[in-house]
Amino acid sequence: MPNYSIGIIGGDGIGPEVVREGMRVLDAAEAIYGFKTHRTIYPFGADHFLKTGETMPQSAIAEIGKMHAAVLGAIGDPRVETGKLEFAIIAGLRFQLELYVNLRPIKLYDSRFCPLKEKGPEHIDYVVVRENTEDAYCASPFFFKKGTPDEVAQQSMIYTRKGTERVIRYAYELARKRGKKRKLTLCDKANAVRAQDLWTRTFAEVGKEYPDIAQDHGYVDAMTMWLIKNPEFYDVIVAPNLFGDIITDLSAMLQGGMGIAAGGNIHPGGPGVFEPIHGSAPKYAGQNKANPLATVLAISMLLDHVGQGEASKAVEEAVARCLRSGKVTSLQAGVHKTDELGKLVVDELKTIGR
Ligand code: IPM
Ligand code: MN
Repeated sequence: MPNYSIGIIGGDGIGPEVVREGMRVLDAAEAIYGFKTHRTIYPFGADHFLKTGETMPQSAIAEIGKMHAAVLGAIGDPRVETGKLEFAIIAGLRFQLELYVNLRPIKLYDSRFCPLKEKGPEHIDYVVVRENTEDAYCASPFFFKKGTPDEVAQQSMIYTRKGTERVIRYAYELARKRGKKRKLTLCDKANAVRAQDLWTRTFAEVGKEYPDIAQDHGYVDAMTMWLIKNPEFYDVIVAPNLFGDIITDLSAMLQGGMGIAAGGNIHPGGPGVFEPIHGSAPKYAGQNKANPLATVLAISMLLDHVGQGEASKAVEEAVARCLRSGKVTSLQAGVHKTDELGKLVVDELKTIGR
C-alpha cells in the first residue's frame, strides 16, 4: 500500500481548525482509496515564535523538502510584526524548496456562490499559474533616511530567464494537459514595468514548442476588468508573482470567496505545499466558524500531486456535491460550523466510494 510522508503546519488563527477538517477528509480518503500517509506535525506560527523565538528552522524546511507534500493552514498574527512569520514560513518554503509554481485553480461549483449576475459553472473554470520564487517577493527592501521627510524606500522586481522560462513552460504544459480551450494568457504589465519584456520574449519563444496552444496576452490592470466581465474567455493564465497574487484573490471571489479557494506551491516532480489561499482570520480563530472547504480542496490538490488521482477527483467531487445539493448554503465564515462542513464532505466521499 502506498505510504506518503506529509508535513502538517496548522499555523495561526483559523489555520489549525481548517487543517483538522482537512485531515478528517484525508483519513476518509485513505480508508476508501487504499493508501496511507505518515504525518509530521509542526508547531510553527505565532504562538511557537512568541514562546521560543523560532520562526521556521532550516532543518524543518529541509525535512519537508524530502517529503511527498505538506499542508499549510494559515500564517499571520497581529502580535507579531507584519511579514515576519509570512516571510520566514511561507516564503521560506517557497524559495528554499524552489516551489516555483503557485497553482490556483478557479472553478465555480454552483451559480449561487458567484457574485456575478448570469455567470455559472460553465463560465468560471480556469487556472492561474503564478510564478512563486521571484519578483518583488525575492528582493530585500531598502530604506534610506527612514522616518525622516527625506525618506527613500525601494524594492526591486526581479525576474530571471530561468525562473520565467520554467513557470511559462509549466503553464503551456498545463494548457495542453487540461485539453480545454487550449489557450494560455500571459498577464503582465510590460508596458510600464519594462523589465517584464523578459516575460514577453520568453512567452513567445517557449510558445513555439506549443503550436497547439493559442497565445493570449493581457495587461494586469485590464485583466482585473476582463476577469469580471468575461471569465469564460480564460483557460490557463500565467503571471509574475505579484500580479498573480492579486488576480488570484480577485478570481477567488468568482468561485465563491476565500472559503473555497485553494492553491498549491509546487516544484514539479518534487515537493509541494498545499494551502487554502485565505489568511489566518484571527477574529474567527478557535470558534469553529471558519470554512474548511478551501483546505479540503487543497487536500484534493495534494492527492493529485502525490499520484492519487482517483482520490483527488473524489474529494473535489464530494465538495462539489455538498455545494450543489444545497446542504451548504453559504461559504461565509460563521454560517456553517467548521467541523460540520468537514463531516458533510466525508459523508459525500463515502457515497462516492470507489
Ligand atoms: C498568498 C499570500 C502571501 C503572498 C502573503 C501572506 C505573503 O497573500 O499566499 O497569496 O503574498 O504570497
Ligand atoms: Mn495572496
